[in-house]
Amino acid sequence: MTRLGLFLFVLASHWVHLGLGYPSAPQHRDDGSSPDAAAHFNAPTAGQMAPHAGLLRPRQDFDAKEVSKAAIDAMNTKFYASSQAIWSPSDPWWLSGITLTNVIDYMLQTNSIDYLDQVKTIIETQRAAFNGDFRGESTDDTGWWALAMVRMYDLTGDSAYLDLARADEAYMYESWTASPCGGGIYVDIKAKTYKNAIANELFIKLAVSLYNRLGGAEPSYLDHALTAWSWFQGSGMINGSSNLINDGLASDSDGVCFNNKLPVWTYNQGVILGALAELYLATADTTHLASAHAIADAVLSPPATTTPQLASSDGILTEASCRPDESDGCDHDQQIFKGVFASNLAELARVTLLFISGSNDSDRGQAYRGFLGRNAQTAFAEARPGDGTHLYDVSWTGPFRNSTIGKQASAVGLLVAAIG
Ligand SMILES: *[C@@H]1O[C@H](CO)[C@@H](O)[C@H](O)[C@H]1NC(C)=O
Ligand SMILES: *[C@@H]1O[C@H](CO)[C@@H](O)[C@H](O)[C@H]1NC(C)=O
Ligand SMILES: *[C@@H]1O[C@H](CO)[C@@H](O)[C@H](O)[C@H]1NC(C)=O
Repeated sequence: MTRLGLFLFVLASHWVHLGLGYPSAPQHRDDGSSPDAAAHFNAPTAGQMAPHAGLLRPRQDFDAKEVSKAAIDAMNTKFYASSQAIWSPSDPWWLSGITLTNVIDYMLQTNSIDYLDQVKTIIETQRAAFNGDFRGESTDDTGWWALAMVRMYDLTGDSAYLDLARADEAYMYESWTASPCGGGIYVDIKAKTYKNAIANELFIKLAVSLYNRLGGAEPSYLDHALTAWSWFQGSGMINGSSNLINDGLASDSDGVCFNNKLPVWTYNQGVILGALAELYLATADTTHLASAHAIADAVLSPPATTTPQLASSDGILTEASCRPDESDGCDHDQQIFKGVFASNLAELARVTLLFISGSNDSDRGQAYRGFLGRNAQTAFAEARPGDGTHLYDVSWTGPFRNSTIGKQASAVGLLVAAIG
């Protein structure tokens, strides 16, 4: 089958199951009401859920949908500033871009429109920021909001959201330069001093996501994504001995770039997984899945010699570069990173399980799902306060001291990822 033929086949047969939405028959038109939203959810009251359920509690006591909804409701109560249509306005703007994506993902995964009005209000208000239509002061801030627009298209089928994401992709691409480093986009649009991992991962994911949602009709998006991924692979940001991605690049006076050895953050191991899963859907090229599996495995099951270890011996994700005390060590930005990893691992798991391409992929997909379930159940049991409310602290093994929008949105990302 040709690449396009396979792509169309993939779309026709599996798009819905991937949770990516369906281009010609979206799950929810904007005027539609959710058929079973009310039946799905009865947000548990504080007393119904034991505050410390414990790791060995039977699985049926943990309903990822219910727990996700309870965490979103608690997040809205505690952090949503309705007058400004944003969560925690004193925190960085991009955190709300991720939070928005997580809330939309919840609706996609549960077939509901519980938060659609809130989400639309946020989009109408926040698109005016900076240069308008989510074109932020940096390429990464732009990318987070643009990916939320892609998800909004998946949920509603309304191409207006895709148009916003397209404008953002073009805006990000303006920050691509051949020198230094032989390619890559800058993260800081005005200063143009730093080519880093997150901005480029978001760019790859955005470009290929657009290509896929446009039914393969605009090859320039795939060209952007493949060129950027090929550049990324050779850039030096991926540590060849650990398969983990450092923060970004440094350059010498000749414009030659190399790994800057800055921290290995979980979100940099995450966004690329979602990007590579979309690249596989676009191309049917199994090397993209293999690249994603190598990075995911380096987080989930690294050799003992790998530093840093991003999962504990119990298989719980940890932000190793701001531990040992994550609550004190991780700043408000860093607190959200683990949830981004979880969301993107879920995307990779879905694609891996649906399109088994290697003899071990089934086991791998199941291992990813197992990891997400274990992390979600642990966070639910350990990272919440003793009174059973649905706020989360940063370390998923606890204890709970307090929450922030980053900590809470990270937990929402994880819990929604555990739905499926
Ligand atoms: C690359 O990975 C190895 C093995 O984990 C580690 O010892 C080394 O410090 C890493 N290099 C960088 C730049 O992080
Ligand atoms: C939250 O807890 C951490 C860890 O104890 C502490 O450093 C921080 O100041 C607390 N924040 C608030 C707002 O209480
Ligand atoms: C499958 O997994 C086994 C055991 O983990 C490993 O030895 C083998 O090389 C893997 N095969 C492939 C094709 O990845």
